Amino acid sequence: MSCPSPSTALSPGYAGGLEIPGWDFFYKGKVRDLYQHPNHPDHMLMVATDRLSAFDVVMEETVPDRGRVLTHITEYWLNQVSDLIPAARVTVEPSEIPDLPQEFHDALRGRATWTRRAERVNVEIVLRAFLAGSGWREYEANGSLWEHQLPTGLQKSSRLPEVLHTPTTKAEIDEPITWAEAVELIGSEEDAALIHEVALKIFKEAANTASSKGVLLADTKFEFGRIDGKLVLIDEVMTPDSSRYWPENEVVEGAEPPSFDKEIVRAYLRSLTDWNRKPPPPTIPAEVITQTRSRYLEICEILTGNSPV
Ligand SMILES: Nc1ncnc2c1ncn2[C@@H]1O[C@H](COP(=O)(O)OP(=O)(O)OP(=O)(O)O)[C@@H](O)[C@H]1O
Ligand SMILES: [Mg+2]
Repeated sequence: MSCPSPSTALSPGYAGGLEIPGWDFFYKGKVRDLYQHPNHPDHMLMVATDRLSAFDVVMEETVPDRGRVLTHITEYWLNQVSDLIPAARVTVEPSEIPDLPQEFHDALRGRATWTRRAERVNVEIVLRAFLAGSGWREYEANGSLWEHQLPTGLQKSSRLPEVLHTPTTKAEIDEPITWAEAVELIGSEEDAALIHEVALKIFKEAANTASSKGVLLADTKFEFGRIDGKLVLIDEVMTPDSSRYWPENEVVEGAEPPSFDKEIVRAYLRSLTDWNRKPPPPTIPAEVITQTRSRYLEICEILTGNSPV
């Protein structure tokens, strides 16, 4: 599998909601549609759509190929870090998904992930190498970040002295939690320590890899789960939706670096004075969608290096 081609004419995006005979469409996330099949109660089919959410509201428009980019980047990183922790995902090749009717293979190729169902650990494992977003806001207000004291004089987009772990709840609105609360939610000291250690290792390896490609991994969030009591990595992995990637040569301390995600959409939405960030969403101009799509394709190409389908 590879990323979608930047040269492809702008085709309509995939909004999801497909009916697959014999399958139960049981959950519609902001981005992913989840299906289960009665023959495989321990597995599920995750379909990454081209839906676009911003400020937690799903837009009417889709960004063509966005779901394929997210799936492809996740697959790339899962393969890179497979020696550090097992993953829940089984395959992204539609022909290897049991009981998936042949006529859906083409439509779902690149979007479908066949995965074991894990008992989710309801903590977002957030790791940060740079001060950005809520991390920057917290430091600006208190001079600290989560339970870590930081040196004075850091600026927006400064590199942190070390990669820091700032867990949050996994809920409708994610709230920062202390390490003690994270341990409680994870369920044991031992698993919490393992998650912490593995997440740091994955982050550092990936940050080195990204840096060799001219991109800084500023932060990311991981999700873990348990299968037969054993910890596994679930969900998307170091995609532009779950991470901040910055072009290394455009990072200036004190300024907001351009990121490889839907910042173009957010900037457009922030420019509107008459939208209260609640549904219904406003119309997103075609130009904003086109630029966003290019940005996703660009980071896909940079990271995974292969030419899109
Ligand atoms: N292997 C797995 N086992 C159990 N749950 C999983 C697994 N992989 C992913 N998930 C969950 O499936 C959902 C994927 O849907 P999607 O990414 O669209 O959700 P979302 O809109 O981001 O919502 P959420 O805030 O719940 O992540 C997420 O809730 C994620 O935690
Ligand atoms: Mg998600």
